Amino acid sequence: MPPQAFLKCIDPACGLQYPVTDIKIECEKGHLLDVKYTATPQTSLKETFYKRRNHTNNIFNESGVWRFRELLNFCQIDTEDIDQCSKYLVSLDGAEGRLSKPYHMSRVSDYVGVKNLWLQPEGYNPSGSFKDNGMTTAVTHAKLVKVKKIICASTGNTSASAAMYAANENMECDVYIPAGEVAPGKLSQAFQFGAQVVEIKGNFDDALSTSLKQAGKIGGYTVNSINPFRIEGQKTIIFRALEFLDWNPPDWIVYPGGALGNTSSCGKALMELYEWGWIKKIPRLAVVNSEGANTLYNLYNGKFENTELRWNKGKSDTGLIERYYEYMDKNEIRPKTKATAIQIAKPANILKGLRALDFTNGVVTQVSDAEMLDGMALVGLNGFDCEMASGSVPAGVKKLLEEGIIKKDETIVGILTGRQKDSSIPVDYHKNPHNKFAIPPRS
Ligand code: F0G
Repeated sequence: MPPQAFLKCIDPACGLQYPVTDIKIECEKGHLLDVKYTATPQTSLKETFYKRRNHTNNIFNESGVWRFRELLNFCQIDTEDIDQCSKYLVSLDGAEGRLSKPYHMSRVSDYVGVKNLWLQPEGYNPSGSFKDNGMTTAVTHAKLVKVKKIICASTGNTSASAAMYAANENMECDVYIPAGEVAPGKLSQAFQFGAQVVEIKGNFDDALSTSLKQAGKIGGYTVNSINPFRIEGQKTIIFRALEFLDWNPPDWIVYPGGALGNTSSCGKALMELYEWGWIKKIPRLAVVNSEGANTLYNLYNGKFENTELRWNKGKSDTGLIERYYEYMDKNEIRPKTKATAIQIAKPANILKGLRALDFTNGVVTQVSDAEMLDGMALVGLNGFDCEMASGSVPAGVKKLLEEGIIKKDETIVGILTGRQKDSSIPVDYHKNPHNKFAIPPRS
């Protein structure tokens, strides 16, 4: 009998529950939902996961997401039964999560000033970003509940991933994007994979609220990271990192912060593994905002009303968040960064993000566009590819080390969230001899 899964409100005081087959992103009281499991997966599965790397032509073993399927079995299937897997699980032929694992990049380590720095290029996913980890699971749920159309808002990578899986599953896909604010390589993917692009005047936050209203009206299925099934797949980013480290957690895990889906999934993965006895130590989470889109940084660090926003056992000061959003709207403060992937002012997963930061004793920092560009360029000079938003990770580690928060001898895993999809950014960077790591062209 496979373990049972259900949906549960994240607010401990509310705790409303729903069947896993419900299409809901919030409980009746407007709180986000978690996927919960009744059974405790046995630690002997660690060996099973490792063995599956020799996949024997089973795409669900080949997939770096579904290889861990016992830890995200919301379809409640017999995970050893290939016919059941094939019937229920959506996969791009096993490609998602297959190439991403921690790598050591010596030039980045030297520059940042830490030896034990591992960087995990999630851009090496089929659509070129970490989104595929969560999209394969969200679209699996969409298929389970028999929806025909998926919908998302996006700064580009979500739409590329959603469109790719929708095309592969013969579903319709509408993507709401902030007009003129999406990298050309991302936009072209949405078109190429046959999505209906809807251009919104405004920023990502406006596109998200429009797409959610539209999903409500036409009965579309939202695949943004507020969808709890997205978060399930994104847990595997952490599973792959931990497996690589023989399940000995690092001291730090570092992510860029946008809508905070990654922060949320990292927190959920660690909370579950800890509760299940798979890990004994809890790594600290560091979230890196862009200075131009730094809502979490400001609220977490008490830069607004001198109050540090915390999870507070589920009783977060949501009034503070609302007042901050009102303050931004009233003063026409719009998120502005060249790293458009994380140009987000109202992180939809902020409460789940706070919960993750609370569980991991986490920190939030911010970096400038110039620092992100240097980070991106250095990753490139190690022969790896990442986009500007991911450059925030080396930049953030460097900053936290300089501030004495991260220590020189600590082990750090940083997640490089996406591949370069705006060729003008590295070209412009290297053509400008004033940039720290530029190699200008010669004639
Ligand atoms: N890095 C990249 C490359 C991204 O595309 C995003 C988000 C993030 C980081 C932030 O991750 O939202 O989990 O905190 N991109 C979304 C999109 C918003 O629409 O593609 P997060």
